[in-house]
Amino acid sequence: MIFFHTQGMRTVTEAHQRARVAVIGATGAVGRQMLLDLAAAGFKHVTAFASPRSAGQSLPFGSRQLRVRKFARPSCCTGFDAVLLSAGGDFAQRYGKRLAAENAIVVDNSSAFRMAADVPLVVPEVNAALLDRDTYRIVANPNCSTIQLVVVLAALRRSFGLQAVDVATYQAVSGAGQRAVAELEQQLRDAQAVPQVFAQPIAGNVLAAIDRFDAAGHCFEEVKMVCETRRILDLPRLRMHATTVRVPVYHGHSEAVTVELEQEVSRAQALACLQEQEGLELVSVDDHARLPTPRTVAASSKVWVTRVRLPYGEARSRWLQFFVIAHNLKKGAATNAVQILTRILAGERCAK
Ligand code: A2P
Repeated sequence: MIFFHTQGMRTVTEAHQRARVAVIGATGAVGRQMLLDLAAAGFKHVTAFASPRSAGQSLPFGSRQLRVRKFARPSCCTGFDAVLLSAGGDFAQRYGKRLAAENAIVVDNSSAFRMAADVPLVVPEVNAALLDRDTYRIVANPNCSTIQLVVVLAALRRSFGLQAVDVATYQAVSGAGQRAVAELEQQLRDAQAVPQVFAQPIAGNVLAAIDRFDAAGHCFEEVKMVCETRRILDLPRLRMHATTVRVPVYHGHSEAVTVELEQEVSRAQALACLQEQEGLELVSVDDHARLPTPRTVAASSKVWVTRVRLPYGEARSRWLQFFVIAHNLKKGAATNAVQILTRILAGERCAK
């Protein structure tokens, strides 16, 4: 195990090459992407875990194949410098704390710990400084739709202040896991195929809610977006409305967003602000053929923003509209988790 604080600042490459990393949920949609991102970031010592039914499977890791090990209990996975966990909220609730006790750091992709006071909820472009504290053993990776939204909101808030946010999402099926991708594929081949993952057919359809409902009519995906955005931006009273929708797209979430700023801006000022934001690709040309789409940005790990505009007929306004797209398995999940890990390894935080 690496003790970061006693050995001072390492170069990123050195830390990556030495770090022993476990991925639990490696056979899932996000877990597979985590392996790709870890390999691309230069990690060498990676072990893949999944449920006992997947033990022995092979998964691509750079130019190699990793043999999947079974996770039967937390004692199967001890002594790692980091555990990237993507096996769902129930699994994280059950095993997350024990894994954190047995390994240096756990980065969890589920919603299990996102609102826990002692667990940082991090999007590195926005609040990476939280990782410099040495008071945590678990870091929570935010909800996919939240990650891409806050990268844009953070830039606007820094320059102009932020009063309110209204967002409607168009979310890809891979956000619901590997089985949901297979379900869309099957329904595109056979329109009569009975839905298993979604409550209604997703092919050729739009489903107006994601996850369970609360008593007030909000679905949990909306609740997550509101609560997590407020927490990441450290704006607990931010006025925010969300409508989360599933659409028949394999990968890539899209969002139509309207914000109310604290000060009036021109369109040029808004574009200049977004142009500067780390992790963000701005497309300001109004040309149908060049608008980013989930398909055209599929290879990218960035957040894409386009259609930036003021209310019709106004030259300056406190209201601004735009459209945001990102790959939900990359920046919306695996890439953000690997960025968190990279940032921790590059710092002086005590590992154990
Ligand atoms: P498995 O493929 O063996 O079921 P997705 O979100 O795409 O459905 O993926 C979920 C991931 O979490 C998969 O890798 C799945 O492994 C893994 N997983 C689910 N339950 C467990 C468990 N009890 N122990 C280990 N891994 C699990």
